[in-house]
Amino acid sequence: MGFLSLVYVLFFFFGDKVHCQYENYQWDEDYDQEPNEDYEPEFQFRQNVEYGIYQHSLGCARECFCPTNFPSSMYCDNRKLKTIPNIPMHIQQLYLQFNEIEAVTTNSFINATHLKEINLSHNKIKSQKIDYGVFAKFSNLLQLHLEHNNLEEFPFPLPKSLERLLLGYNEISTVQTSAMDGLVNLTMLDLCYNHLHDSVFKGKNLAKMEKLMQLNLCHNRLESMPPGLPSSLMYLSLENNSISSITDKYFDKLPKLHALRLSHNKLQDIPHNIFNLSNLIELNVGHNRLKQAFYIPRNLEHLYLENNEIENINVTMMCPSIDPLHLHHLTYLRVDQNKLKEPISSYIFSCFPHIHSIYYGEQRGANGQTIQLKTQVFGRFQDDDDDDDDDGDGHDNPHEDQETEGTEEHFNPHYYETQEW
Ligand SMILES: *[C@@H]1O[C@H](CO)[C@@H](O)[C@H](O)[C@H]1NC(C)=O
Ligand SMILES: *[C@@H]1O[C@H](CO)[C@@H](O)[C@H](O)[C@H]1NC(C)=O
Ligand SMILES: *[C@@H]1O[C@H](CO)[C@@H](O)[C@H](O)[C@H]1NC(C)=O
Ligand SMILES: *[C@@H]1O[C@H](CO)[C@@H](O)[C@H](O)[C@H]1NC(C)=O
Ligand SMILES: *[C@@H]1O[C@H](CO)[C@@H](O)[C@H](O)[C@H]1NC(C)=O
Ligand SMILES: *[C@@H]1O[C@H](CO)[C@@H](O)[C@H](O)[C@H]1NC(C)=O
Repeated sequence: MGFLSLVYVLFFFFGDKVHCQYENYQWDEDYDQEPNEDYEPEFQFRQNVEYGIYQHSLGCARECFCPTNFPSSMYCDNRKLKTIPNIPMHIQQLYLQFNEIEAVTTNSFINATHLKEINLSHNKIKSQKIDYGVFAKFSNLLQLHLEHNNLEEFPFPLPKSLERLLLGYNEISTVQTSAMDGLVNLTMLDLCYNHLHDSVFKGKNLAKMEKLMQLNLCHNRLESMPPGLPSSLMYLSLENNSISSITDKYFDKLPKLHALRLSHNKLQDIPHNIFNLSNLIELNVGHNRLKQAFYIPRNLEHLYLENNEIENINVTMMCPSIDPLHLHHLTYLRVDQNKLKEPISSYIFSCFPHIHSIYYGEQRGANGQTIQLKTQVFGRFQDDDDDDDDDGDGHDNPHEDQETEGTEEHFNPHYYETQEW
């Protein structure tokens, strides 16, 4: 129980991070649509008067704002800047997001050697306008935000100290051979919404990123699973690619995977025990071409199978045997937009006694017509004392969100809080 609690606390923590990541994307998109003209950080002008002298003494770029209570931070975001101002020596956090910056030049950073965090997201930076080695010399840099730019290449070289690297929403299609080699401290790498093909992984050794916990490769052009991933990985996001198969032993080297997102791919035939991963808690393989279910690992809680070609869910395959001492943890199953003709065999409740709901939604018939199974939603409210407030969590009421949008609505962190493990 103690161990399990730890696992769930961990998942809650990181799972939430994944969750936030996606929220960011949505938020960013919304933000983009609004004109930025009238955005003005409230504190900007007043501060210049009040703290002018102080700012001057330590140095703050004229265009930017350096708050007294965070003297090592410099805010230059949302200022229509076309170039990076000169960065004073003492600055550790540099915020340059939402500008019109095209180039990253060595000169701007000539004195800045203490940077720990640089946010250059939402600019117009092109790969060939980044001076060679400009980032690599920041030997203390932990976070680099370059998402929403016009990069065509994975930036190289980067400092070995880096822990979080965000490169989403660019046009990256090439990665230099050794670009990822030195990034031994990287824990999170986001490459979603780029133009990556399978070929970028040829001759690369991603396994050298021994601390990598989260890798986001969603919305790229991959046709197969990325090879040679580090065994430290806990969160892998590959949705919206064109992946059609997974080889037999693919996950053998990824024993720590907690969450795997493979929705919107072309998965068809996969080995029936491919997801036999003892730490897997969330699995999304919705919007693929699967014809069959597969073995469900014991710790899996949320399974998304919607929009596939499944005609018949073979519970024996999902659960070949029942071990009363090690019951399966599955609580939520989504199977709408498949080709089911009848509800899943009730044997499923013997094998997965924690199931709270199965969402059947609409099924597709042979001639493209939609079929409503008698049971559209199976919801069970257990009698256990601690489970009485089930319908309050909004977690699995599919009537509320008819949209089949992603996993977010169904991944409710609150749910984990209210569970007793
Ligand atoms: C770098 O620091 C030196 C000495 O403090 C100063 O004279 C110079 O103007 C600074 N350069 C930039 C680009 O900030
Ligand atoms: C960096 O900018 C992005 C906007 O693109 C923002 O969402 C994020 O919170 C910023 N990061 C930090 C640490 O301020
Ligand atoms: C990596 O992180 C460890 C622990 O935080 C630190 O001691 C080490 O110096 C870091 N490595 C690099 C190359 O910065
Ligand atoms: C993934 O791609 C599909 C089809 O191109 C699209 O309908 C869907 O909205 C995308 N998913 C996300 C999360 O953007
Ligand atoms: C799952 O993996 C375990 C070892 O990790 C093995 O004992 C078990 O037979 C596997 N189950 C299936 C269905 O492959
Ligand atoms: C269900 O799966 C089991 C185990 O893989 C297999 O033996 C059985 O034939 C399958 N049943 C059907 C109806 O496909």
